[in-house]
Amino acid sequence: MEIIIKETRKQASEIAANIVADLVKRKKPAVLGFATGATPLALYQELIRRHGQGALSFKDTVTFNLDEYVALDPSHPSSYHRFMEDNLFQHVDVPQAAIHLPDGRAENIPAACEAYEKAIKDAGGIDLQILGIGGDGHLAFNEPGSSLSSRTRIKTLTKETRTANSRYFGDIDQVPKHVITMGLGTIMEAKACLVLAFGAGKAEAVRDMIEGPVSSSCPASILQFHAHAIALMDQEAAARLRRLDYYLEVYHGKPAWQRWE
Ligand code: PGA
Repeated sequence: MEIIIKETRKQASEIAANIVADLVKRKKPAVLGFATGATPLALYQELIRRHGQGALSFKDTVTFNLDEYVALDPSHPSSYHRFMEDNLFQHVDVPQAAIHLPDGRAENIPAACEAYEKAIKDAGGIDLQILGIGGDGHLAFNEPGSSLSSRTRIKTLTKETRTANSRYFGDIDQVPKHVITMGLGTIMEAKACLVLAFGAGKAEAVRDMIEGPVSSSCPASILQFHAHAIALMDQEAAARLRRLDYYLEVYHGKPAWQRWE
């Protein structure tokens, strides 16, 4: 795994935007995997800023989001459809028909999950999957204990995740118990994965992801098997890494073109 540690979330998000922009300019169509939550917001703001300046167009991209709540209407203020619309899509030029999120209202959920997997395959696979990591090491909504080769499916959220996400719903009782999420096997098929992590609350999960044993107890640790995974974080999220000094030395020893700056 490539480890990039920047002082601040803003600096790290600029690097993430450079990685996205490089792909979008280089490959047409570029197939982007997007994530929700607080973590990618600064990245999305930077992508919007570059688009506004005329430096970046998404008209030749196809997008797939990681997950969505079951039974929540896409227009619900806390749905991930709405999150993506508000925080990215309405500000850039991704064609509406190229945007994909799991259908949390599907009557036949297994069929909808299979169709989602097929849509990803039909698009040629995801070129770059953006990811956050949960404080418990979850990736998308693959909670601890998830099969390391799981596919898109329905999952039950842990109380920890529902508590964390109650900030979007006001009250934990309003947070749906079930979600549709890409599986770890699905995520591992992305050609490249970019995990972002910010703040002290992620430090333990980040250490387990990068330095712990590969285990479903930390679903993100599966990325140790990925050939092109980048973990991009701020200093707080990196604070518990045992080989922190080594990662910093490796990064600073690289030529500028390898540092995405
Ligand atoms: P966050 O969530 O970005 O809101 O911290 C990340 C996650 O739970 O995957």
